[in-house]
Amino acid sequence: MNDPNGFCFFNGKYHLFYQHNPKAPRWGRMYWGHAVSNDLIKWDHHDIALEPDSFWENFLGCFSGSAVINDNELNLIYTGFSIFGQYQLRARSADGFSFIKKSEPVIGPGQLPPGAGPLNFRDPKVFEKNGIFYLIAGSSRKTLRERGTQIALYESDDLDNWKFLGSVLNGRVERGGIFECPDYIRLEERDFLIASPMYLQMNEQLEFENLHSSVYIHGVLDLETPEFETDKPGPDGYRELDGGTDFYAPQTMSAPDGRIIIIAWMQMWKRTIPTKAEGWAGMMTVPRELSCIKGNLIQKPVREIERYCVNRRTHKGIAVSKQLQLPDISGNRIDLEMSIDLSESDDFGLRLFMSENRHNYAELYYDKRKQILFLDRSRALQRIKSLSRLEKQCDRRSTKLDLPDSKLQLRILLDRISLEIFIQGGRQVMSSIICNGDEDGGIEFFSNGRAVITQLDFYDIEI
Ligand code: FRU
Repeated sequence: MNDPNGFCFFNGKYHLFYQHNPKAPRWGRMYWGHAVSNDLIKWDHHDIALEPDSFWENFLGCFSGSAVINDNELNLIYTGFSIFGQYQLRARSADGFSFIKKSEPVIGPGQLPPGAGPLNFRDPKVFEKNGIFYLIAGSSRKTLRERGTQIALYESDDLDNWKFLGSVLNGRVERGGIFECPDYIRLEERDFLIASPMYLQMNEQLEFENLHSSVYIHGVLDLETPEFETDKPGPDGYRELDGGTDFYAPQTMSAPDGRIIIIAWMQMWKRTIPTKAEGWAGMMTVPRELSCIKGNLIQKPVREIERYCVNRRTHKGIAVSKQLQLPDISGNRIDLEMSIDLSESDDFGLRLFMSENRHNYAELYYDKRKQILFLDRSRALQRIKSLSRLEKQCDRRSTKLDLPDSKLQLRILLDRISLEIFIQGGRQVMSSIICNGDEDGGIEFFSNGRAVITQLDFYDIEI
């Protein structure tokens, strides 16, 4: 699997579709897989929802897209990749499981955004405002002077007839590529565009180190002009959603209680995939609740996960100098929350997924002087390697983190090969895959000074 698609709540259940190649554990001609859940945590697999059986999908299949509920029907608006190019298609369903495709594209040849190339116009996200449907999609943008990317905006009142309104965001993507999988949300009176730009260059904040990145931009979306007025113009206005090695193509949905939930593909393009040997490739992050503080997006695991957190253990006031393991703290399906006081220490670290012989682990390390949190998976049993010359390494990632009061707050979710780290209450997040042995669940704390774990709450996750 790759991108999450059509993430929605329909007839009392959460539906998550996803890019899927049913024929092999690698990318290929794309179908839409389908999973359904009552609580966003426990998912049931269902039959494939979309397969590439029409002329408009006859090259690389059914690419990414979104869901929109209208007249008690679940509609999927997605990109079909035919030998002539990428167009936007519609499929509808009364029960949420079997879909009927419209025979012609809803945005077809002749309706591309100005300057867009036919091979680069994809990933429609539909949302509704004041009874009107809007659609944003990523595309290339070529003018006489430059090449770039844009997020194109269309409107419709029936989901079939779409009118191009303009481009809400233009960007230069340094080494080609487009904004993939655009999304739009509104939180605390602010509009956010989310997108997955390809080949962004790393910045001074140490963001965008992956080959492709997922970013958000905040400002005001004026649907009439149309224009997205960013609070901080230019690439400086892009903030990375997740600073780990594996997070891409996120999609959001609105839960019935008003929460905005985001989920992402937890993997990255152009890397080796050790799980292929087990016959599968690709997974999703834990769904996260989004909120915002002063324009910064905050991500927290959905609260439903707490129902599956068992065997609580707590510790208070534990001093760490050199290495320390606690006898009741280990496992690789866990939820670990801790506050660390670094006023008497310049550093603090954790080793996770540690093997019994201590050779293999993932390491998280905070360097107070450099103000950087490092994540290092170079000691994993099965190293993941980058297959792109544009990505120097994918063993280590770093996140700038200033701790004015020397207090570090971490919440760490492990699920067998996934590691998701929510830093300072979810202001920053790092997500990575670590391929160690099935049983490798050792947890070790370390510090070269005297760091104090003021509070530690630990749970096994049982699903
Ligand atoms: C992003 C992406 C999308 C495309 C899909 C194809 O990961 O490249 O742009 O629709 O994956 O599987």
